[in-house]
Parts: sequence; structure tokens; C-alpha cells
Amino acid sequence: MRFEVTPSKVSDASVTVPGDKSVSHRALMLGSIANGRTEVSGFLAGEDCLATLAAMRALGVDIQQPSETEMSIDGVGLYGLHAPSQALDLGNSGTAMRLMAGLLCGQAFDSVLSGDASLNSRPMGRIITPLTKMGAAIEGDCDGTPPLQIAGGLNLSAIHYDLPMASAQVKSAVLLAGLYAKDETSVLEPAVTRDHTERMLGSMGVKVTTDGSRISLQGGQELQGCDVRVPADLSSAAFVMLAAVLAENADILISNVGVNPTRTGVIDILQGMGADITLLNPQLLGEEPVADIRVRSSKLQGGSVDPDLVSLAIDEFPILFVAAAAAAGQTVFSGIGELRVKESDRIAAMSEGLRVLGIQVDESRDGAVVHGGHFSGGTVNSYGDHRVAMSLAIAGTVATDTVIVDDVAAVDTSFPGFCERMASIGAYIRPVGEG
Ligand code: S3P
Repeated sequence: MRFEVTPSKVSDASVTVPGDKSVSHRALMLGSIANGRTEVSGFLAGEDCLATLAAMRALGVDIQQPSETEMSIDGVGLYGLHAPSQALDLGNSGTAMRLMAGLLCGQAFDSVLSGDASLNSRPMGRIITPLTKMGAAIEGDCDGTPPLQIAGGLNLSAIHYDLPMASAQVKSAVLLAGLYAKDETSVLEPAVTRDHTERMLGSMGVKVTTDGSRISLQGGQELQGCDVRVPADLSSAAFVMLAAVLAENADILISNVGVNPTRTGVIDILQGMGADITLLNPQLLGEEPVADIRVRSSKLQGGSVDPDLVSLAIDEFPILFVAAAAAAGQTVFSGIGELRVKESDRIAAMSEGLRVLGIQVDESRDGAVVHGGHFSGGTVNSYGDHRVAMSLAIAGTVATDTVIVDDVAAVDTSFPGFCERMASIGAYIRPVGEG
């Protein structure tokens, strides 16, 4: 399937975007190992989270889905999961695989975790190393990629682990395994990463301590099921935000979006470039802060993006590359090497796509310099990466001619209904072909 994007008239509108992917994954996993019922609303029914849903059901958890965005989970407690009858297929989802690995290495049974071609080529050494230190038996292919074979029935020991990279997935894997270890497990973060695991564990009654950059929990703590209200995903809202910023004269309100401060780097970076973005009606949805985000068309100015904001905007760099390409002058991105091991090599994929659309990009190993300009038409490849596909489509809304984005089926992993939502604000992005 591909997108055909034609020059658009994004104007005033009020929209919603689907639920947060990170929070939805965690609601399923933590609700499953809690005692009692967890009711989830605002769930993201995207393919990544549906893979986690199928995995938890395959582990013996009764999860009802009263509507597309609601889940009712009958938690089985820390030790109530059952051996799956086959390998768990986690599709495209790195979060599902890395967090599930942490959860499964403390179980009494063996399990195998696998995924699609993209996931099966992503590095898992980063979780294999700490989990092995905890006494888990977990093996990937010889290059440290999935499938992962996890042996059960082992006693885990607590560790104090200095994370070699800023990664919420690795942090969460170690903390989840830590629930099954004796004594206190802790991780030290080199930079702040999303803290949804810590917040949700807290709302389920687990004591998680954050002391500076060190996050600790005592093993053996039981979780109590609770209501989880999932905010709209800021990472999805970011596409709508940039479409509004780049338009001639738009004023768009996106309601009830998660604005957890460990996620809001994209807002800070865009505001720093001159984007007119205001947060309205801030409130708490359970443990997670939310707000309505108002975005008005603005002129962007390039500059150097603060490397301290990278881990707070880690999934938004594809759309930030598009912002940089539309800004006046050069924008310098540094410290973004992690982008090379996401669903695709996002530095390479975005640089290639933008070049096809007439933008000069100078790539380095862990950075890029994007020279602002104007988008021409052309045919670009998303490399099967949902966020690359959506970002290049947003560039197409302000291009001088039609932009075709190839290989876009993966958009359903995080943003089902993307084209319909974009149409509702006046962006002409049409899906074409088999899908
Ligand atoms: C996620 C953490 C991030 C992010 C991913 C979701 C999570 O990955 O890129 O989309 O839900 O914990 P890393 O931990 O690899 O940075």
C-alpha cells in the first residue's frame, strides 16, 4: 500500500488522535500480572498493541474487549501466567518484545519471542545483558537479534544496573524482571526516558523509588488491578501538529493528549523553532498528565537542537526532520544515533526521503544537518516504518506537487485511521493499493 499526497488546505479544526502506544502496552502487561480486574479505556487498537493483547491471551490471561478502545483484564497475579503453546509473535513492536522478555524470564515456563522482519533484525543484546546478569537464561540469534529463547524456572537475583543507553524499554525490562527477583533492583539512567512503567506500577500499588537518575523497586511486590485511562498519544499528535504549523493559516486543537514531561521534547523543540503551540486545560488522567494542544500556523527557524532533549522526543525525530526541512536556515541534530536501530534506520530513511523531495541533508553517524527549503513532488520510500511514512506524508501536504509514499501499511501499528483523521483537518493523504 502507498499514500498519494496532494497539496492540501489544512485549516481550523478540532481533532482527537488514538491512545498512547506505550501506555496501552503497559496496561495490558501490568494488568495481566496484577491481582483482580484492570479496566482500560482509550486503548490504542493498533497492530503493535494488538500483538501484546494476543501474547497476553496466549499466556492464559482472560482479556475481554467490550469496544475497540476498552479492555477488561482479569489479572492472574505475578505467578499466574501459563506456558504458551507456541512462539509469541510480537509483530513490529520493540516495546512488546523487550518488556515481555523482562516479564517472561521470571516465569516457571519456557517461552520464545519472535517478530516481523524489522523486529527480528533489531538489537536485543541491550536486554539480554542485564537479564542474564540477573540469572535469566535468554538467548537470541548469534548477532543478538530475535527470536529470543527464554528458559523458565530460574531464580532471578536483583541487580543495580547502569544503563549504557537511554532506553525506557531496557529500563522497563529490568524493572519487570526485578519484580521476580529477591531484594532491590535498580537502574541508573544516562538521560531521562519515558516513565510510564514507573507511574503505572505506582498506581497498581508497587513502591517504585526514583532518586535522581536511579529508579529502584523491591522484588516480590504484588500489583493490584486498577482503572487505566490512556491519554491520546503525543507521538501521533505530533503529525497533526506539524501539518498545522506548516499550513498557510490553520488553528487546530487536539484534545486530551498525554503531556508527561518525559515525552514533551517535541513540543519544546518545535516551540524553540518558532512554532505557535499552547497547552490548554492541563489535568491528570490517573498518573498521567494530559492537556489539549492548540497549534497555529507559524514560520519555523532552524538552529541546533539541544541533545538533552533527544530522549524526551525519541520517536518524533522523523517529523522533526520535516520541520527542519521547512524551516529557514540549517537545523543541526546531534546525539540521535539511537534512531538508526528503530523500526528502520530513521536517519537514513528520512535523509533519503527528504532528498528526493529536494531538501539537502548531510548525514553523520549520530546526527544530521538539514538545510531548509521547499518540498517538490516525488516518490519516496518509508522502508516499512510507520513514523517515516507519516512524516513524509506530512511533507507532501505542503509540497509543490504530488508525493507518493511507498510501503505504508505499517502506519496501522501506531495510528490506525491516520488518513481519515488527516482528512478531517484538510490534509489530502489517500491510501492507494493493497493493504
Ligand atoms: C518506548 C521506548 C522507546 C520508544 C518506543 C517506545 C516504550 O524506545 O522509541 O517507541 O514504550 O518504552 P527505546 O527504549 O528503545 O528508546
